[in-house]
Amino acid sequence: MGANNVTEDQQRPTGPDDDNVVWHPHAVARADREARNGHKGVVLWFTGLSGSGKSTVAGALEQALHALGVSTYLLDGDNVRHGLCRDLGFSDDDRRENIRRVGEVAKLMVDAGLVVLTAFISPHRAERQMVRELLDSDRFIEVFVDTPLAICEARDPKGLYKKARAGELRNFTGIDSVYEAPQQPDIHLDGQQLVTNLIAQLLDVLRGRAIIKP
Ligand code: ADX
Repeated sequence: MGANNVTEDQQRPTGPDDDNVVWHPHAVARADREARNGHKGVVLWFTGLSGSGKSTVAGALEQALHALGVSTYLLDGDNVRHGLCRDLGFSDDDRRENIRRVGEVAKLMVDAGLVVLTAFISPHRAERQMVRELLDSDRFIEVFVDTPLAICEARDPKGLYKKARAGELRNFTGIDSVYEAPQQPDIHLDGQQLVTNLIAQLLDVLRGRAIIKP
């Protein structure tokens, strides 16, 4: 199989600090898994304000891909913060660590041949760039769910904007914590469009980039 077919992802990444921990490649390579799956492994990295529609769109896309026979996994901020990142809050440092962990997990899942969908506010350009650099350039697709703050605030599905405005919740993105919108996202979605239209747009891109079959 792929013993001599070591992908870039399987080469020793930077770290760890301990020289006694040695990286070793796997006998089954990403290319072998992709050949069996019939599609590529990539990350679709959704970013946008709370309430922009990231989780809804990513969830609907996962359903559509699953129905097409694509192997997927959805990593969602609210859920990941119940487990892997339960020790993290919303300071800049904690958000950075949240995104670092999720980026590393997503990288492993791409190596496993999956189409990984992530739905995190990921408010800082530097962290999104950090994840982009963890992966091969064609394996990271930044999807900006562009919904104006006023619309997100009017939707307020979890009542968090109301709490933030009342001063009961600090460091809330868009209110008293920054959101740096992508300047050149790979995919720019209008978060006020119907979800079905957005899914059609996303599937077109995935087919156009030969990530999934036409
Ligand atoms: S990120 O900034 O680190 O990427 P993440 O996507 O994991 O954030 O989590 C965001 C979710 O946590 C929001 O959708 C919201 O439900 C909840 N949340 C709780 N407190 C905050 C806060 N201060 N800022 C933003 N979201 C918050």
